[in-house]
Amino acid sequence: MFTRVRMSYQESAPCVAVVGVTGAVGQEFLSVLSDRDFPYRSIKMLASKRSAGKQLSFQDKAYTVEELTEDSFDGVDIALFSAGGSISKKFGPIAVEKGSIVVDNSSAFRMVENVPLVIPEVNPEAMSGIKVGMGKGALIANPNCSTIICLMAATPLHRRAKVTRMVVSTYQAASGAGAAAMEELELQTREVLEGKPPTCKIFSQQYAFNLFSHNAPVLENGYNEEEMKMVKETRKIWNDKDVRVTATCIRVPVMRAHAESVNLQFEKPLDEDTARDILKNAPGVVVIDDRASNHFPTPLEVSNKDDVAVGRIRRDVSQDGNHGLDIFVCGDQVRKGAALNAVQIAEMLL
Ligand SMILES: NC(=O)c1ccc[n+]([C@@H]2O[C@H](COP(=O)([O-])OP(=O)(O)OC[C@H]3O[C@@H](n4cnc5c(N)ncnc54)[C@H](OP(=O)(O)O)[C@@H]3O)[C@@H](O)[C@H]2O)c1
Repeated sequence: MFTRVRMSYQESAPCVAVVGVTGAVGQEFLSVLSDRDFPYRSIKMLASKRSAGKQLSFQDKAYTVEELTEDSFDGVDIALFSAGGSISKKFGPIAVEKGSIVVDNSSAFRMVENVPLVIPEVNPEAMSGIKVGMGKGALIANPNCSTIICLMAATPLHRRAKVTRMVVSTYQAASGAGAAAMEELELQTREVLEGKPPTCKIFSQQYAFNLFSHNAPVLENGYNEEEMKMVKETRKIWNDKDVRVTATCIRVPVMRAHAESVNLQFEKPLDEDTARDILKNAPGVVVIDDRASNHFPTPLEVSNKDDVAVGRIRRDVSQDGNHGLDIFVCGDQVRKGAALNAVQIAEMLL
């Protein structure tokens, strides 16, 4: 990790491009870059033709959004991508060819062999040797937001007692589906309260005052793509092809931040007090676990926060001895689940 500096603009700092800058994650990129005083020599704001010419303000300076084209990456050291999988698939390799290090938020390259899939607190070693100035471009993938939030809490426990099986149920916010989904939830809420039929453009069914199975395509095995991302990405990030993971992913009408119920089975015994202590000391994790006042993590409390919150830490009474735990995790998936994680990766490139 680099030492933070007060002034972000530096002659020796990298040239940065933000691809998808007008979107939910793109806007969060700007906020995180600014909050963390990320050093940059120049910054390019890229989006689709629709947004070209739009004015954006960043650190008291006006920028014009440019249309993403094949020439966008000339001289760019670090390209932060969040414009969807098809854009990443097309423009990611072009950027790498031009010498940029691409940190990609889409699922396009996550499971590609030799593309590091990184949560800085969990597996920084996966991207060792990749640095700005190494003379060539590279691709690094940001994991799925639900995977990041889950593994931020599960990994410190896994390191101590080795997780052999993990059962996850998610409660996922509108923000995970982008800026337009957030607008739709707000609009539908008004419409339902006014007795009007809800507008369903982003999701095929009523979202306000409802919940439904995640909108990702359902696969032949009955799981949806979001669920299988959690299964496969966990194995890659933990470098453990044997860990058994199953997930049920649900969209809930929460504006921002995902919640997840996580059941863990361990090879070695791990009691709940030790687990609580481990989590209290884990980087990027806060424990909110107040049984007396029934106060546990909520999406509202973690919205716009960097840390993932963990609570409901308790022995799983369905498992023998101390070989199972239940935990409840909340994290801002636009932030730690996307923009913050990617900027932390970018910091490790310096
Ligand atoms: N939202 C999350 O919590 C989250 C978490 C992890 C990963 N991700 C991933 O991040 C990506 C973006 O998600 P989001 O939620 O930010 O979506 P979003 O709010 O819909 O934003 C999409 C962005 O992509 C840009 N874009 C679309 N088509 C483009 C094109 N042809 N050329 C250049 N730019 C184009 C849009 O620009 P215009 O405004 O010009 O259309 C906009 O800036 C997706 O791959 C998503 O899976 C999202």
